[in-house]
Amino acid sequence: MQNNIRWGIIGLGKIAHKFAADLLHSEGVTLQGVASRNAEKAADFAAGYHVKSHYGDYRALAQAPDIDVVYIATPHAFHFELTKMCLENEKAVLCEKPLGINGREAEASIDLARSKNLFLMEGLWTRFIPATETVLDLIQSGAIGDLIFIRADFGFKSAFDPESRLFNKTLGGGSLLDIGIYPIFLSLLTLGYPKNIKATARMTKTAVDGSCAVLFDYANSAVAVLDSTFEADTPTEAYIHGTRGSIKMHKQFHHTEKITLLRDGMGPEVRDIPHLGNGYVHEIDEVTTCLKNGRIESEKLPHRLSSELSRLMDDVKKEIGLSYSSRMVNER
Ligand SMILES: NC(=O)c1ccc[n+]([C@@H]2O[C@H](COP(=O)([O-])OP(=O)(O)OC[C@H]3O[C@@H](n4cnc5c(N)ncnc54)[C@H](OP(=O)(O)O)[C@@H]3O)[C@@H](O)[C@H]2O)c1
Repeated sequence: MQNNIRWGIIGLGKIAHKFAADLLHSEGVTLQGVASRNAEKAADFAAGYHVKSHYGDYRALAQAPDIDVVYIATPHAFHFELTKMCLENEKAVLCEKPLGINGREAEASIDLARSKNLFLMEGLWTRFIPATETVLDLIQSGAIGDLIFIRADFGFKSAFDPESRLFNKTLGGGSLLDIGIYPIFLSLLTLGYPKNIKATARMTKTAVDGSCAVLFDYANSAVAVLDSTFEADTPTEAYIHGTRGSIKMHKQFHHTEKITLLRDGMGPEVRDIPHLGNGYVHEIDEVTTCLKNGRIESEKLPHRLSSELSRLMDDVKKEIGLSYSSRMVNER
């Protein structure tokens, strides 16, 4: 792998803009190419971020010889197909969350990356946010004792639009896959895989979850209470309680820059922990480090964690009677 990591982006929507801006702030990388289904849109995007090449179809970028790693930023329903296409063209991949719309897709992507000895990571930027790192260090050091209870939510009110990726089932709509994944990831990261799972949801007219509430029980008797919604503006905070104290991850907890540590018998300790750029610089740095060291997975966000996360989400989906079938990008 050469010294400068050459990135490509597939799917030029909202998140692609934020990510491209952060690539410009990152060390040792270039945004080499971007691809949209619309050539004019790709050209406009490229002009905005000083990108060398732009493509009016995704496959052309996947086949470009001058790209090392592709960031996939389309709706969830196409993550698997596009990850596969990039890996088959010898590209490393950073795929937006979720890695697939179900565990089967996530596993297939992981298996393919491993068999081709190529890097693959799910775009769970939360794992690399400096405040998350501090929270994990605090837990590890025993600052709040043994974990006993987690409460985390993610909610915003979005006008119902059956065509939008948030509500359209064929695009992978629903709050669980889009934002419920963050509270669930936090509980998986800190408490591991639960012993028992309960969940309930309010379904939309498009047959996806507009709101979803989840309860996890753990073997060590800890409990997690997690929820997500597109139907209300909820605090979007996380509280991690231990036997000797607690940590609050302030709004929006999944990329927070502020935590409050509360230790038994002591006053609250507020810590400001800024992230760089829009917050994606840290996950970009992780990909750079992995690629430069010839790794096919991140130690901080290993394939095992993405695999468990997708399995856990499948368990929740089963509880709320929701399932998705694989879909190809050219079916639209
Ligand atoms: N990490 C984060 O903080 C974060 C935040 C928001 C979203 N996300 C993830 O990023 C992904 C994209 O989210 P977004 O908010 O950027 O979505 P978006 O604004 O709707 O953009 C998605 C892009 O995907 C492409 N696309 C391909 N097929 C499509 C289809 N049939 N319908 C609509 N778009 C299609 C389009 O790009 P072209 O027209 O250029 O082909 C579109 O602009 C999602 O998987 C989401 O989970 C992550």
